[in-house]
Amino acid sequence: MKRFLSGITPSGDGSLHIGNYLGAVRQFIELAKSNETFLMVADLHGLTTIQDKKQLQNNIEILILNELALLRGFLSKDEFEKIVFFRQSDVPMHTECQSILNNVTPLGLLKRAHAYKDKLAGNAMEEDINVGLFSYPMLMAADILLYQADLVPVGKDQKQHIEITRDIAERFNKIFKKQVFTLPEPYIPEEVAVVLGTDGKRKMSKTLGNVIAMFDSEEAIKKQVMGTYTDPTRKHATDPGHIEGNMVFTYLDFFGPTSPRLRGASELSALKERYKAGKIADVEVKEYLFQTLMNYFAPARKAYEELKANPNVVTDILKKGQERALIVAGQTMKEVREAIGLVTKYSFQR
Ligand code: AMP
Ligand code: TRP
Repeated sequence: MKRFLSGITPSGDGSLHIGNYLGAVRQFIELAKSNETFLMVADLHGLTTIQDKKQLQNNIEILILNELALLRGFLSKDEFEKIVFFRQSDVPMHTECQSILNNVTPLGLLKRAHAYKDKLAGNAMEEDINVGLFSYPMLMAADILLYQADLVPVGKDQKQHIEITRDIAERFNKIFKKQVFTLPEPYIPEEVAVVLGTDGKRKMSKTLGNVIAMFDSEEAIKKQVMGTYTDPTRKHATDPGHIEGNMVFTYLDFFGPTSPRLRGASELSALKERYKAGKIADVEVKEYLFQTLMNYFAPARKAYEELKANPNVVTDILKKGQERALIVAGQTMKEVREAIGLVTKYSFQR
């Protein structure tokens, strides 16, 4: 049994979309079945972009409900209860550890980090970039190293952060001559590395407005599905259609084979054949996709409503998560303090 840890930042409006699900949460769910699981709401990371009290609180709440609903909806009660689900800001060791790691991290390592580099390349002046964004990978390293995680499931865009984390852990262990930190491995299944948005062109992302958000209202989801990019060369339902690059089929490939409505992969390949032969209209395959998604996410949508109606359940989960996280993070910080010499034994105290 391995230990894995991951986190999601409450960015955008806090809600999750099918890209987050396929690129991140689905892996959490699979891994949680047979591993020790730490899942964190990276609310301190949210501060790099959100500096409005109301928005931050709102985003954190939405993210908590979205993520818990997926976990509760797709895991058994036993599996769900084993997860340590917590808020980063509920465990003060994250910032303490970050502050110590600062001292073993070369400036150049952070200057090469994508988030910072991309911002500079996008015409932002150094004056406009806060140090929180610059040291984002340090906080993330602290998040991971505090829990001695073996595996970190994330989207491809986060791979560099795991590499930086390994680098920092190695340096720390070497400088202080003690194997305090476990070196984590990224866990990024190739087939779902990046999910494209409903525009069929760019990465699915809330800020680009090209998402399908599984906890939106049915009408909103229908609208997102109906606006999905299909095959621009196809003018009439009787024209032969193309599957490649057609986002409706891309999403059906992810969700269709397990859907009861499509009764497995054979139904999906029959649907593709009819589409290629010009025997089914775009609107019909979109309706299939809509139904497939509603079916697929039904248990999670139900859990979402239950959690929302029972705020005490949510606060209990967070409290229990905090307690369990504090124990592990506290133990690591004890080892860190010992390794670096921040101990409360004094030579004058004989
Ligand atoms: P974000 O909201 O961008 O912080 O994303 C939360 C998690 O979802 C991270 O692990 C991302 O790598 C992952 N993720 C976000 N957007 C996508 C996408 N379009 N495809 C795959 N994974 C994604
Ligand atoms: N930076 C990650 C993201 O944007 C979120 C995150 C914060 C995280 N801390 C983490 C992911 C620790 C994995 C492990 O998606």
